[in-house]
Amino acid sequence: MKKALDSNLLSPLPVVLVGSLVDGRPNFLVIGYSAPFDFGKHLFFSIFKGRHTLKGILEHRTFSVNIPSVELIEAVEICGGRSGRDVDKSAIFKTFQGELKTAPMIEDCPISIECTVAQMLDYDQNYGVIGRVVKSYVDEACLVDDKLDMRLARPILWATGGDFHYYRLGERIVSEGPRQ
Ligand SMILES: Cc1cc2nc3c(=O)[nH]c(=O)nc-3n(C[C@H](O)[C@H](O)[C@H](O)COP(=O)(O)O)c2cc1C
Repeated sequence: MKKALDSNLLSPLPVVLVGSLVDGRPNFLVIGYSAPFDFGKHLFFSIFKGRHTLKGILEHRTFSVNIPSVELIEAVEICGGRSGRDVDKSAIFKTFQGELKTAPMIEDCPISIECTVAQMLDYDQNYGVIGRVVKSYVDEACLVDDKLDMRLARPILWATGGDFHYYRLGERIVSEGPRQ
């Protein structure tokens, strides 16, 4: 027997920290609802209109997407629970800039992606942000034979649709991956 639910059960999703430069300072929030598309050349995420980070995204039309490892869970909880309107989140992480110079990325995260805004979809309470991926940056410690081994990045996964807990990435189940 199946039970029909009204919620969207497409899950788990990687927890990401989206960053922007707000009033000259880096600010990061947790985004759960994100996805790559266009075979990775673009990505998408949902952001409520009241978010402080959105100010910087609208001003510079750039942002970063950072994948924290499980060791950063405390910082994730701060970035996902406190707004930059009330607390200065700029000193939580060491940051670096890539090509865009207005999309602060997090040194402590194993993977960071810098993006320009391609499109903003107005969904009343929130925007769907479509970003064009400019460059991705990865810690060399996550590479094996020059290729990313995601297990070494130790991402945090978030289950939606009623579960709403964080998880770790599990084991590889076949040694030869499917072609991308
Ligand atoms: C697991 C998790 C997922 C979240 N996903 C989103 C999201 O997809 N979109 C969003 O606007 N806020 C999301 N939030 C809430 C923001 O991260 C939170 O309100 C943050 O404090 C906003 O910071 P800011 O105002 O400094 O931008 C999420 C929070 C958590 C803990």
